[in-house]
Amino acid sequence: MKPIIAVNYKAYYPYSFGENALRIARDAKRVWEETGVEVILAPPFTEIYRVLKEVEGSGVKVFAQHADPVEPGAVTGYIPVEGLKEAGVHGVILNHSEHRLKIADINALIIKARRLGLKTLACADVPETGAAIALLKPDMIAVEPPELIGTGVSVSKAKPEVITNSVSMIRSVNKEALILTGAGITTGEDVYQAVKLGTIGVLVASGIVKAKDPYSVMKDMALNALKAVS
Ligand code: G3P
Repeated sequence: MKPIIAVNYKAYYPYSFGENALRIARDAKRVWEETGVEVILAPPFTEIYRVLKEVEGSGVKVFAQHADPVEPGAVTGYIPVEGLKEAGVHGVILNHSEHRLKIADINALIIKARRLGLKTLACADVPETGAAIALLKPDMIAVEPPELIGTGVSVSKAKPEVITNSVSMIRSVNKEALILTGAGITTGEDVYQAVKLGTIGVLVASGIVKAKDPYSVMKDMALNALKAVS
């Protein structure tokens, strides 16, 4: 199984937007070509179109950062899954700590995304929530302790038990979901440990998006993920 490096651009300015967003997309393409690791990019809604164009023809996947639990229609400012499908994304992140959803809405969104052929990466804050969400059968589950998000202190070093508990609790109810972790991941070593502890990869934001050289960081993470699975 190929390890996964998922990059959540969030909405850092200027890092997540315009030319910077494209640079990360080009870097991701290079890392995918050079390592074969599965790279997922989740740019802001405003950047989806150009990021998709930039990675066209490569194996890099583009996900939206969120979808709203609404039907298309008179819902100003909301993003229904149908709109994301039309934009051409491969999948969608649901229930990120910074954009939480009710469990009933997560369920409905996973069902709708599946019907429309989109992958889902559902987030959880603790192993128990991860297991609850695992029952809904998203394609991927990322457990991220909110208190470590954006700190540069990685979950793999500071709270390895969050990863091991997530893996055992999620596996007890769902044998198939791909399990990721995230929060504070900044180095290849962080990724190596996360994979050694039982995940298939990581969900990373600031460590890549705000890096001086996102390519080197991504490449180092990809190589360490490969080393950990071999
Ligand atoms: O979605 C990724 C995330 O919330 C972790 O953020 O900046 O700690 O990598 P960061």
